[in-house]
Order: sequence, then C-alpha cells, then structure tokens
Amino acid sequence: MKILAFAATNSKNSINQQLAHYAAKQVTGAQIELIDLNDYEMPIYSQEREAELGGVHPLAQQFYDKIGGADAVIVSFAEHNGSYTAAYKNIFDWTSRINMKVYQDKPVLMLATSPGPGGAQSVLTGAVNSAGYFGIDLKGSLSVASFYDVFDMEAGELKDSGLASQLTGLTAQLEHTAAVN
Ligand SMILES: Cc1cc2nc3c(=O)[nH]c(=O)nc-3n(C[C@H](O)[C@H](O)[C@H](O)COP(=O)(O)O)c2cc1C
Repeated sequence: MKILAFAATNSKNSINQQLAHYAAKQVTGAQIELIDLNDYEMPIYSQEREAELGGVHPLAQQFYDKIGGADAVIVSFAEHNGSYTAAYKNIFDWTSRINMKVYQDKPVLMLATSPGPGGAQSVLTGAVNSAGYFGIDLKGSLSVASFYDVFDMEAGELKDSGLASQLTGLTAQLEHTAAVN
C-alpha cells in the first residue's frame, strides 16, 4: 500500500510533518512517501497568472500526480490564525484548477496538531466539513493538542498511549480500505 504523507505547512521543522510521518508508520507494510510542501511552492494563485501560464502551474500537476499515484493519503494540518496555512491553501487552489476533486477519491486520514491546547481543531474542522467537495474519502480525523507534551521528539512517536491507540484505530481504517480495494 502506497501512502502519501505530508504536513499542510511550509515550516522546515514542522510538528505536523512529524505527526504525519508517525501516523504513516503505523500502517502495516506501507510504502511511505513523505513530501515537503516547500517543494511545491508557486506564486500566489490568480486567474490572471493561470491565463498567462496557459494552464496550471507544473508543480500543481506534480502535486496532483503524487496524490493520484498513492493508495491513501495522510495529511496533517498546521493552523494559522484558525485556518489553512497560506502555503497549503495556495497549492490547494492551484491544484483545484486541474480537478476540484483534488484528492481523487482516495482514502484520506486528516490530522492536525499545534503546540497549544487547541490542537489546530479549527482548521481540521474546516477541512473535515469540506472534504466531500474535494474528492476525499475521509477515513477519520484526529486533533492532537499540546504536541510537545504528548510526542517524544527523539523517538519520533506519540508517548500519550490514549492518543497513540486512537491513531492506530484510524490507520487501521486505511489498511482495511487497502485490503478491500
Ligand atoms: C502566523 C501564525 C499563526 C498561527 N495561528 C495559530 C492558530 O490559529 N492556532 C494554533 O493552534 N496555532 C497557531 N499558530 C502556531 C502553530 O500551531 C505552530 O507554529 C505550529 O508549529 C505550526 O505547525 P507546523 O510546525 O507543522 O508548521 C500560528 C503560528 C503562526 C506562525
């Protein structure tokens, strides 16, 4: 099972990247591709830029193809001022010009984390509520609050056993999907 995992942020030391990677590693036998949104940085989307290019930006096509080539996607959202990071939203906007179903009906696990007690729940709720519009076969979602209290940075794993078992339950849903597809 090919899992595409990424953090919806452009932080170089992203806590969401750590969470997404950890989650992907819980999927038994998964072939993990962990991508960095910095590799998909494009000018801010505008209809004029799209017209000037005569189509979508090639990096948007590459991002779309990465999703298309995966059996399942794990995305972990960073929250900036209650919403998506500009980095993710820009890639999402460009890619939606190829196909509004950006996630191409793939099974998706949506996570979010922040250092504070809110756990980036606001951005996660927005992403979950709009999932149906964007070709997301949502298999589950989890907000992880107070990241540095619950995640062992050295070991690269959740040290909170309750959260770890919740996450394992969700990754099991992805495994199940792979088994039936
Ligand atoms: C511009 C900006 C806005 C932020 N807004 C929020 C917020 O609304 N809610 C929140 O929980 N954390 C917020 N944070 C803190 C982020 O959760 C924190 O930087 C986290 O590390 C981002 O995840 P990342 O490391 O995966 O990029 C904000 C940080 C920045 C730089």
